[in-house]
Amino acid sequence: MTPEQFLELARVLPEPLLLVSGEGQLLATNQPVADMLGLRRQELRGRMLFELVTESNNDVVKYLQACSSSREMVIGSLTLRKNDGQNLICRSQGAVIQPWSAESSALILLRLENRVVASSNFVLLNEKIDELAKEVQRRKQAEEALKKANQELEVRVEERTTDLQETLNELQLTQTQLIQAEKMSSLGQMVAGIAHEINNPVSFIYGNLHHAHKYTQDLLTLVQIYQQICPNIPPEVQAKVEEIDLDFLIQDITKLFESMKVGTERIQEIVKSLRNFSRLDEAEFKQVNIHEGIDSTLMILEHRLQARHEYPEIKVIKKYSQLPNVTCYPGQLNQVFMNILTNAIDALELLANNGHWSAVNPQTTDNEQLADNNPKIQIKTELIDQKWIEVTIADNGLGINEQVRSKLFDPFFTTKSVGKGSGLGLYISYQIIVEKHNGQLSCFSVPGKGAEFVIKIPVSSV
Ligand SMILES: Nc1ncnc2c1ncn2[C@@H]1O[C@H](COP(=O)(O)OP(=O)(O)O)[C@@H](O)[C@H]1O
Ligand SMILES: [Mg+2]
Repeated sequence: MTPEQFLELARVLPEPLLLVSGEGQLLATNQPVADMLGLRRQELRGRMLFELVTESNNDVVKYLQACSSSREMVIGSLTLRKNDGQNLICRSQGAVIQPWSAESSALILLRLENRVVASSNFVLLNEKIDELAKEVQRRKQAEEALKKANQELEVRVEERTTDLQETLNELQLTQTQLIQAEKMSSLGQMVAGIAHEINNPVSFIYGNLHHAHKYTQDLLTLVQIYQQICPNIPPEVQAKVEEIDLDFLIQDITKLFESMKVGTERIQEIVKSLRNFSRLDEAEFKQVNIHEGIDSTLMILEHRLQARHEYPEIKVIKKYSQLPNVTCYPGQLNQVFMNILTNAIDALELLANNGHWSAVNPQTTDNEQLADNNPKIQIKTELIDQKWIEVTIADNGLGINEQVRSKLFDPFFTTKSVGKGSGLGLYISYQIIVEKHNGQLSCFSVPGKGAEFVIKIPVSSV
């Protein structure tokens, strides 16, 4: 539409109409516009819209741009500067007639409407809507941020809870380990104390036994000399000789002293084993004979190996090889032997409780089968490559199934009843062998046939 065509059209319309370029230049206006401003129409031609309104050129151009880039009518507000100095607030409706192009500027038709109050309300409304839209936008962003923060928080809370749970588990484990270590140490102290207390009187008895025997022999020789010198002994003496059965006494007294000697020697052996087992004085790395450790542990467990009412004797078969002394923590190693041997005895006793061993056919003459059908523990030691020693402890108990085997060395894993099993024996043994001695601890089992534990440690782990 040319300005002329527009004027043709606008002339007949009563409302104020303006044709402006995209830059805001007035191309044509109709009479009502001139009337509104109190000017003549000719005075308006070629002028810029911002000269006629209070809004800045920038605002005006922005509004016109909005009009030219929209397909719909764009409502705005323009405040006209009237010729008499007064301002007139108008509502304007702008529509693009010809959009921007490379060759020409946009043509926009503006329709003005004098609506003082409505317009100001409209402006306020516009501002309000604008503000509200911004507020909605802000809230949306805040909500998004909150959501994200919440999610992060949840993840962190979860992580923290897992961390705390882990720390709690570790602490509980340490606590139990400490209790266990404390128990072992007080057991060791008690054993060492008892051993010491027994040792003194026994040494005293053992030391005097020899003299007592010698003195008795001397006295008996004296009696014999008397008998030879004075064959006619007075009747009172003869009566006493018969009463005490002197001949038998002479024969028996030597045997008596012999058995007292064996007995005290045995007590001394036990004391030595107790001391060896507790090894209180040897918290440090030491070179020791592993066999002594195993033997003293067996000694402590002797009462559980012997036959008791409901339990048959557990046979211990030792297959010891020649071993060099091993550098280790002897007390701790003994604890490992103790744990593994105790488990083997527990497993054999469990079968006894189920009446397993009594089902053995006593008619059998096959030694091998007889051995297999009785509870037994086999302990084998070997030297490997001059660098490692291997101790194998095997029992013919009920064995360990795969499910149990996978958890065997876990702390607190036990299949025993409360009070009987703590589930710490193998866990602690593993720590001692693997971490303290750089060794290996493994378990092999054919369920139903028994279990075998293999301890491997370097001869010198330093
Ligand atoms: N020689 C074995 N024969 C059968 N099961 C065994 C043997 N040694 C260990 N186990 C199994 O391993 C579990 C864990 O042993 P351990 O750590 O010593 O704890 P606890 O003896 O207190 O149960 C035992 O409860 C038992 O089920
Ligand atoms: Mg155990």
